[in-house]
Amino acid sequence: MSKTISILGLGAMGTALDNALIDAGNVMTVWNRTQTRADALVARGARRAKTVSEAIAASDLIILCLTDYAAVDATLADVGPMLANKTVVNLTNGRPDEVRAIAARLEGYGARYLDGGIMATPPMIGSPHAFILYSGSADAFEGAKEQLAAFGQSHYLGEDPIFAAVNDLALLSAMYGLFGGYLHATALAGSVGVTAKQFLPLVEPWLAAMMTALPDYAERIDSGDHARDVMSNLAMQSVAITNIVTASRSQGIDPAFMEPMERLAQKRLAGGFGTDEISGIIEVMRAK
Ligand SMILES: NC(=O)c1ccc[n+]([C@@H]2O[C@H](COP(=O)([O-])OP(=O)(O)OC[C@H]3O[C@@H](n4cnc5c(N)ncnc54)[C@H](OP(=O)(O)O)[C@@H]3O)[C@@H](O)[C@H]2O)c1
Repeated sequence: MSKTISILGLGAMGTALDNALIDAGNVMTVWNRTQTRADALVARGARRAKTVSEAIAASDLIILCLTDYAAVDATLADVGPMLANKTVVNLTNGRPDEVRAIAARLEGYGARYLDGGIMATPPMIGSPHAFILYSGSADAFEGAKEQLAAFGQSHYLGEDPIFAAVNDLALLSAMYGLFGGYLHATALAGSVGVTAKQFLPLVEPWLAAMMTALPDYAERIDSGDHARDVMSNLAMQSVAITNIVTASRSQGIDPAFMEPMERLAQKRLAGGFGTDEISGIIEVMRAK
């Protein structure tokens, strides 16, 4: 069923979201601070809102996709009372404190607030590989889930509005850890003349093989038992980690990405957990 939906924010991601909603047969109203960015969508049938108020007035479902929460605050600064009884889905990347503040403010105006974290790049939107995390008003999610399905798989995580943002940032941490590790590894291999393309057939299957350790780590983390059936103990692994840091320096590579891992491993080791699995490092992360 098609419904009027307003999107505020037509950057790379907002444009992809809008295209997916148009593809699904929805009637769209679009607003962007720089108006020309709406032209291609208007050519596809979207209605152009010249002001934020016009965009809010046009629809009961309002989707925001802006750079950050400061941009969200600036965009909604003068329209709060217009949001009464509307559903606001905010797909802007943010921190839990920002989410709590905006959820309280918009709910104070009588809006139903749903926060979201997009786990996809713009070209992935609308494909089965895209997934979006949501949390906040269950009524808002129930009412909008048919439309939101146009973006990819929806995962509703619960009523607390911060759940989506925290899980989003957690997943991005895993991604940046992977990217940072890959970049460090490629720089280190490059110090003996290996090109990134030559290194790829080694690093890609290696990372894929190491991913298979995660279910075992998850079990250890949840049980708190990092000591049973250990195959690769921390004392042994910390030698390799320190070797990476030292060798990087001598090869002229900045070890900055790996140094925190060395610090955490040493801290756990100093606690007497050298015979445990490396998953136990999470205990020193949690202790701050
Ligand atoms: N791109 C991705 O791969 C990706 C993936 C997952 C999640 N996201 C999230 O999606 C959100 C948008 O990302 P994007 O890639 O679309 O960014 P983008 O291409 O840089 O677009 C940023 C958007 O924010 C608007 N904006 C910035 N400051 C503003 C302000 N003060 N007032 C009003 N509008 C303002 C921009 O308007 P103007 O056009 O006027 O500058 C533009 O519409 C971010 O929170 C990002 O973390 C992006």
